[in-house]
Amino acid sequence: MKNSSVFDCVILPLNKIHNRAGNITIVEGDNNLPFDIKRVYYLYDIPGGEARGGHAHRNLSQLIVAASGSFDVLLDDGKNKKVVTLNRPDFGLMVIPGIWRELMEFSSGAICLVLASEKYDEEDYIREYSEFKTIKS
Ligand code: TYD
Repeated sequence: MKNSSVFDCVILPLNKIHNRAGNITIVEGDNNLPFDIKRVYYLYDIPGGEARGGHAHRNLSQLIVAASGSFDVLLDDGKNKKVVTLNRPDFGLMVIPGIWRELMEFSSGAICLVLASEKYDEEDYIREYSEFKTIKS
């Protein structure tokens, strides 16, 4: 977590089964992901101009998917930053432990689906950027 880098937060192509009645994407822990899925949550009804996130995790890995619409994910490892735009339901962004993230620029009606490696644990959060910088330095 101390040495984790934004460059290891990669975009994973997911599968897509297409037919004339629409598409389906399947994500199975072990098969498509480097972790087992213990929790799923999704952000929706995000008012225009709002940002989410603004924290890092000590142990949690996540796959973030724009299930609908689009948004930007700002990733920061304490040294490097990068912004990833998510706008396709068949691609996911892997966010590894020890990365500060902010989600912003949500399009109207966007749905941010998050597949998580652990159940919710407030102790796993680093919510102060100054503490994050200290841990990463
Ligand atoms: P938080 O992770 O801070 O939201 P975001 O990063 O999207 O801005 O969570 C918002 C609130 O929801 C906070 O009070 C904790 C609660 N929460 C749970 O109880 N369980 C969960 O699995 C998640 C993700 C959040």
